[in-house]
Amino acid sequence: MKFYCAPMEGLTTFPFRQVHHRFFPGVDKYFTPFLVANQTLHFKRKEIRELLPENNKDICTVPQVLSNKAEEFLWAVRAIQQYGYSEINLNLGCPSPTVVTRGRGAGFLADPDRLDRFFDAVFQDLEADPDSRMIRISVKTRTGLTDHAEAGPLMKIFNRYPIHELIIHPRRRIDLYKGQPDREVFGSMMAESVHPVCYNGDIRSIEDYLRMKEAFPECDAVMIGRGLIRDPSLIERIREEIMPEETKKQLCSAGEPEMHSRLWDYQLALYHAYHDTIESDRDVIAKMKELWSYMGDLFPGTEKNQKQIRKAWTYEQYLSAVSGIFSDHQDGEK
Ligand SMILES: Cc1cc2nc3c(=O)[nH]c(=O)nc-3n(C[C@H](O)[C@H](O)[C@H](O)COP(=O)(O)O)c2cc1C
Repeated sequence: MKFYCAPMEGLTTFPFRQVHHRFFPGVDKYFTPFLVANQTLHFKRKEIRELLPENNKDICTVPQVLSNKAEEFLWAVRAIQQYGYSEINLNLGCPSPTVVTRGRGAGFLADPDRLDRFFDAVFQDLEADPDSRMIRISVKTRTGLTDHAEAGPLMKIFNRYPIHELIIHPRRRIDLYKGQPDREVFGSMMAESVHPVCYNGDIRSIEDYLRMKEAFPECDAVMIGRGLIRDPSLIERIREEIMPEETKKQLCSAGEPEMHSRLWDYQLALYHAYHDTIESDRDVIAKMKELWSYMGDLFPGTEKNQKQIRKAWTYEQYLSAVSGIFSDHQDGEK
């Protein structure tokens, strides 16, 4: 089984990837938040930082690109290749109105003929270029824009091209991230796919993972986003759960106190890693607030301290609130 960390704009940038890997190794691939390929044929400075090898040391990173024009996407592929990457992921899932109205992300799914022509031009060009023939193009998609029935025709298109892997988030664009992922549609897309398929959506616990695996035993890759931000040890814990009993016995599993101190060190390291790229305390704290909006769940009984985090605007206020979370939670456990 392969485990991937989902791309999440603003969150899974390189400081997160580095720190997460340092404290919770075991992720097979980290996907960058989307990098935009447009008519400027230029990546922004912050996008280039996502690609620099020194910012992706010791981890397998897959750059993700948002594009709907073959020539712009091909430019991005070659620009990214210069940094030594061997896989590039195309975003066909972003539901944000500014992206969709430009016919990108999930908006590209609205025009299957155009998508077909896009793939045709991209793969012909890559195939004809000895330097790019080896590059792998994977796709992250939703099931459609407004109707799951769009999935069938889309699969026919995906099946026509040498896509390396198809990551399916079984929601339509109109669902955004709400409601339940449609497992039935995922099942039929997987059955129809000639490519390896990865499942993505609402895996928040070991039980969620086991249920997915029971429903789709032949699926051998899963991508986790919010569940991993909420509990950075989730993939490690799933791996432990599914490893053979013999191996489990040989390993001395991390107990609760060890996990507690690892989480403390992790979130502190993350704060400082973000701070290395973001100058003002306020902006770093804003980012950490977003992170805590997921991670807070792991610390039941600390709602008062979590409220303090939401109100914090200086490092001292922030640190005092976070320290409160850890000490109250530990006291609550005793
Ligand atoms: C804040 C946020 C930012 C996201 N940014 C991206 C992105 O840049 N590219 C992408 O393909 N998906 C993005 N996604 C979608 C996630 O990669 C993932 O498909 C989605 O969260 C469902 O998986 P999960 O339930 O495991 O979180 C984003 C989702 C959220 C909530």
